[in-house]
Amino acid sequence: MNNNILCIGAGYVGGPTMAMIAYKCHDINVTIVDINQERIDAWNSDELPIYEPGLEEVVKSRRNKNLFFSTDIEQGIIDNDIIFVSVNTPTKTFGHGAGYAADLQYWEKCARHIREVANSDKIVIEKSTLPVRTAAAMARILEHGSKNTVFTVLSNPEFLAEGTAIDDLQNPDRVLIGGSQTEQGKFAIEKLAAIYGRWVDDEKILRTNLWSSELSKLTANAFLAQRVSSINSISALCEKTEADVSEVAHAIGADKRIGSKFLKASIGFGGSCFKKDILNLVYICETYGLTECADYWRQVVIMNEYQESRFVARMLKAMFNTIAGKKIAILGFAFKADTGDTRESPAIKVCKELLQENAIITISDPQALKSAKRDLADVENLENIVFEADPYKATEGAHAIALLTDWRNYKELDFKKIYETMEKPAFFFDGRNHIDSDMLYDIGFNVYTIGQTEKTHI
Ligand SMILES: NC(=O)c1ccc[n+]([C@@H]2O[C@H](COP(=O)([O-])OP(=O)(O)OC[C@H]3O[C@@H](n4cnc5c(N)ncnc54)[C@H](O)[C@@H]3O)[C@@H](O)[C@H]2O)c1
Repeated sequence: MNNNILCIGAGYVGGPTMAMIAYKCHDINVTIVDINQERIDAWNSDELPIYEPGLEEVVKSRRNKNLFFSTDIEQGIIDNDIIFVSVNTPTKTFGHGAGYAADLQYWEKCARHIREVANSDKIVIEKSTLPVRTAAAMARILEHGSKNTVFTVLSNPEFLAEGTAIDDLQNPDRVLIGGSQTEQGKFAIEKLAAIYGRWVDDEKILRTNLWSSELSKLTANAFLAQRVSSINSISALCEKTEADVSEVAHAIGADKRIGSKFLKASIGFGGSCFKKDILNLVYICETYGLTECADYWRQVVIMNEYQESRFVARMLKAMFNTIAGKKIAILGFAFKADTGDTRESPAIKVCKELLQENAIITISDPQALKSAKRDLADVENLENIVFEADPYKATEGAHAIALLTDWRNYKELDFKKIYETMEKPAFFFDGRNHIDSDMLYDIGFNVYTIGQTEKTHI
């Protein structure tokens, strides 16, 4: 068995994780394959298909040395004995479990492809986030081949966060490797652990059984999302009672048992994973007849959707119950700062709801305008949307600003200058509590932050 690595799926996870392995292990050849030719061409070009701070340096330092991007999946399977599968596992949109269960068609195609092409023993590693007990299905598919090749399935879920992926990969809180407790399983676990061990301390490399590993990934995302929804539910109460959610968050976060991280009230979570993974968890609970558990986790998603709608309702109410024909500048469309990813971004829902009210929206974002155009391509009144990279131009003549992504450079904007070019009264709706609200109020804005009483001049 050779030490060469193949990764099937060159996306937000496959690209950065494999680039990091190549960066840390110069003696291991790492090949990333994908069915999407355009994506592979971009990985091989000067303009990488995803934006992630620090990624470009890592990729360019190892590309065509021990890091390769290709569409030749078959050759990849033949040449490499360690195979990561990092394809997308979106929420199913059809049939049983539609709207909840994970769509495993891409993942299953990969398993069958590996089985058909492999002619030597392979370690097959689930990198994608998958429902608990998927590895059993994967093993069954792989074992039903006609050749004598031995396949060992491991689960190695990825915990990186977009926007900080390179740092997360260099200094992970933990690396999780799940495998069966047979000799063969233990051998595979240690082989993978040795690769991470090149730069991660052994006590941070957790070895578990397969099912714990698969379920830990879903659980981690559910807990993170739950914290966001918990503080957001309190933010709604703060707006009614004159309590201030940032003071409440600070006060409760000082308790070590609660901890201060991930307690910032906002317009809500987005990204490709949180919602999908919780809904998947809900589906799994229901499958096992655990209705109360399913309902508990479903509520996290319901709260998130409520927070997005509540934001638009507050805008509408503040602006005299009509925004038809009014220009609204959207600052930030990505689901979080430091990424161009807009999957499940709250901005999508906010913009669609504003368009339904016949507002004219101008969308600005340093990295996500291309994706924003794609996300809004199907709206009816497309003529009411302007895409503008320059935030000063985007806000010119606007009645209101809605800040939806906490890009650092927004803190450095000259809001006095912006205020002067806007229609009056000028409104500022801060969906991330990102800009100093007292400063905005002193300039003249009517300011609405999440979980705080509005500061208005009218
Ligand atoms: N994005 C994140 O922050 C993140 C973090 C942790 C885990 N995950 C999980 O990792 C997995 C991948 O997520 P992503 O964001 O990288 O997805 P992505 O959509 O960016 O990338 C998946 C890639 O797989 C390719 N693909 C699909 N079927 C294929 C096949 N049969 N052969 C070859 N390539 C194929 C697609 O063309 C695509 O480029 C998902 O299960 C996700 O839940 C994502």
